[in-house]
Amino acid sequence: MTQQNTPQSSDWNLETLLVHGGRNKASNTGEGGQSTVLPIYASTTYTHENIEALDQAFSGKTQDGEPAYVYARQGNPNAYGFESAMAQIEGGVGAIAFGSGMAAIHAALLSAGLTSGTKIVVSRDLYGPTVTLLRKLFSTVGTQLVLADFCQPAIYDLLREEEPDVIYVETISNPLTRVVDLDAISAVAREIGAVTIVDSTFSTPYLTRPIEHGFDLVLHSATKYISGHGDSTGGIVISAKNTLFNQLRDYSNLLGAMLSPFEAHLMLRGLRTLALRVERQCSNALQVAHFLQQHPAVAHVHYPGLTSHPSHELASRLMDHEQFGALLSFELKDQSRDAVFRFINKLQLCLSATSLGDVFTLVSYPPISSHRTLQPKELQDMGISAGCIRLSVGIENANDIIKDLQQALDA
Ligand SMILES: Cc1ncc(COP(=O)(O)O)c(C=O)c1O
Repeated sequence: MTQQNTPQSSDWNLETLLVHGGRNKASNTGEGGQSTVLPIYASTTYTHENIEALDQAFSGKTQDGEPAYVYARQGNPNAYGFESAMAQIEGGVGAIAFGSGMAAIHAALLSAGLTSGTKIVVSRDLYGPTVTLLRKLFSTVGTQLVLADFCQPAIYDLLREEEPDVIYVETISNPLTRVVDLDAISAVAREIGAVTIVDSTFSTPYLTRPIEHGFDLVLHSATKYISGHGDSTGGIVISAKNTLFNQLRDYSNLLGAMLSPFEAHLMLRGLRTLALRVERQCSNALQVAHFLQQHPAVAHVHYPGLTSHPSHELASRLMDHEQFGALLSFELKDQSRDAVFRFINKLQLCLSATSLGDVFTLVSYPPISSHRTLQPKELQDMGISAGCIRLSVGIENANDIIKDLQQALDA
């Protein structure tokens, strides 16, 4: 757990922070030298010089203000390395890592004060299990849940009317890649005193850092771009405020949903190459979007990097490096499920699998995966057609991805 940025690296650029963030949190000085990579601390419990030092360590800090560990569920050096890197990269006062993105979402909602008698307004096209979590765990105990379209100008009046305690959005929606105006939402939230939470999984800290746009809590399913290799599951919440950070730390301990040392090691390793991977993924995604746009079997492409996308201007303002993410969706002209299944079964390089942000290009069909619990009418209201296919573009050679899509579409 961390509460402070690393002072000597405060003037580093983002790419450098990604490579070195959290490295100097290593408590690994040994007689044989200091490792460049933090070792994996498998220990569940920690001894101290004497009982007074152990007593002090229970506060989470040594007398010198350094992190202190007593029991792995309450924090471990690997998770701390990842947390301090992420806090610094996102510009927060601190961060807490969790065993999954869903665990991070649960803790963020509790830390924001969501409980019986409170109200939350959320974007209607959130990741499905987030809405299910809100319905099953919060609505049932008396939390009022309002779903709204955050891409319509009417949203600001609705927020002023509803006066929610918490506002929850995602930077880029799934699968239509609509972008929300973080600055305008946080401005209204300040007016009405609401806590703001954003799931920034799709945009990654390389493209957008929502605390700079006034948000209180930023979270990621680190399983996706941060880990990046499809081999580890985790989540992280970064807080802009000390009060919220302290709540997060308490809930992490009580829920027991902390990130294990080995997974934290993989997350930090993934973070080192985030800029390179996302840069390549975004560049590939733009080429793929242009290819799909001109293919006769494709009716429509949803990608904020295309000037025809309704969020293009907003995305240009909110996302750095003139890049627009690596997630896109497209609709086949033949809107039948059979046509989609035939297309997916023909793919040879792109993997049909339900995740995103990996080095591999992944293809998914929302009606049977992320949006499985929705009725056809609900999908239609959200603008998701039966022929809609989602692509998470990987780091392969763009020509190979396009060739694979082309042969499957032609067939
Ligand atoms: C936007 C978003 N948030 C959160 C999650 C949940 O993350 P995890 O699977 O790590 O629990 C996902 C998973 O796909 C997601 O797409």
